[in-house]
Amino acid sequence: MIDEIRAARDAALSQIEAAGSLQEVAELDARLLGKQGQLAGFKRQLGALATIDEKKAAGQAVNDAMESVSGALRRRTADLGNAALAAQVAAERLDLTEYAGRPTRGHAHLVTQAWERLEDVFVGLGFRIAEGPEVESDWHNFEALNMVEGHPARGEFDTLFVDHAAEGEQPGRVLLRTHTSPVQIRTMLEQEPPIYIVAPGRVFRRDTPDATHMPVFHQIEGLVVDRGITMADLAGTIEAFTKAFFGSDFSSRLRPSYFPFTEPSAEFDVQRPDGSWLELGGCGMVHPNVLRAGGLDPEVWSGFAFGFGIDRMAVMRHDVADIRDMYTNDLRFIEQF
Ligand code: DAH
Repeated sequence: MIDEIRAARDAALSQIEAAGSLQEVAELDARLLGKQGQLAGFKRQLGALATIDEKKAAGQAVNDAMESVSGALRRRTADLGNAALAAQVAAERLDLTEYAGRPTRGHAHLVTQAWERLEDVFVGLGFRIAEGPEVESDWHNFEALNMVEGHPARGEFDTLFVDHAAEGEQPGRVLLRTHTSPVQIRTMLEQEPPIYIVAPGRVFRRDTPDATHMPVFHQIEGLVVDRGITMADLAGTIEAFTKAFFGSDFSSRLRPSYFPFTEPSAEFDVQRPDGSWLELGGCGMVHPNVLRAGGLDPEVWSGFAFGFGIDRMAVMRHDVADIRDMYTNDLRFIEQF
C-alpha cells in the first residue's frame, strides 16, 4: 500500500508541476486533497490493514504524501501568482524616457498671430500698446464715450452685464466691455498728451455664435491726441497702416459714417490689388465730449480714434469660412496655419 501511496503522491506532484494557471491549481487542490481524492481513499483503507505497524507506516505515508502535495500546491500557487504579477507589470510598463518620435512644434493661434502682427505694425508707426480691463464700468464703456443712458447706440451693443456693484456705482452698471473704446478714456485719464496708443483686447457681446459672430471676440483700438491733429492725419495713418500690414499694393479709403464718440466719423475700407474692397472698421475725430470725459480741453487738444476686429482680419487673411472654427481647437484646423 505504501508504494501505491507514493505513486499517487508522485502523480499528484507532477500534475501540480504541470498546472499552468491559478485556476488549474485550485481545481487540483480540491481534487487531490478533497474527501473524494485518492489520498483520502487510502486513509479510509487504513482500518483494513492487518497489523498496528502496517497501519502506522501506511498512515504516516499518507500524511507525508498529503503534506508534500499541499506544500507543492502552495508553491505552485505562489509561483503562478508571481508570474502573473510580473506579466502585468511588464505589460503596463510605461517608459517615460522613451522617445516617442519627432516632437511637434506648436505655433501661436491665428488670432494671436494677427494680434501680434498688428502690434508690430503700429509700434513701427510710433504707437505704444495700452490696456484696459475686460470687466468695465458703464461709465467707461458708454457714458464717457458720449453714449449717455438711453442713447440708441447702446442698444446695438448687446451688452452682457455683471452682477456686481463697484464702489460708488449702482448695481447693473458693471459689464463686460463691448468694445476696446473705453481704453481711450482710461488712457486720457492716466497720461498727458501727446497720446499715440493702440489697445488690442478681448470684447464681449450677447450674441449667438454663427459663421460670422462670436460672443467673445477681439478688437484693436487706436487713439491719437495731440495739438493740431486733423482728419488728414487720420487718413494718412490708416493708409500707412494698410500698406505696412497688407502690403504696398493695398490702399485705403474713408467713407462717412456715424459713431457717438467721433465727429466726424468714418468707416475705413481697404482695397485689394484686384480692386475689390473690404470693410475694416470705424474711425473719426475724437468727439469734444469724449476729450472732456478724458479730462482734456478740446480747445487745446484734438485727436482721432479708430477701432476694428482682429478676428475678422484673421478670417479674411486666411479665408476662413466659419469664424467658429477658430475657437473649437480642432488641431486639423489649427495646424493649417
Ligand atoms: N467701438 C466701435 C465698435 O465696437 C468701433 C470704433 C468705431 C472705434 C469708431 C473707434 C472709432 O475708435 O473711432 O463698433
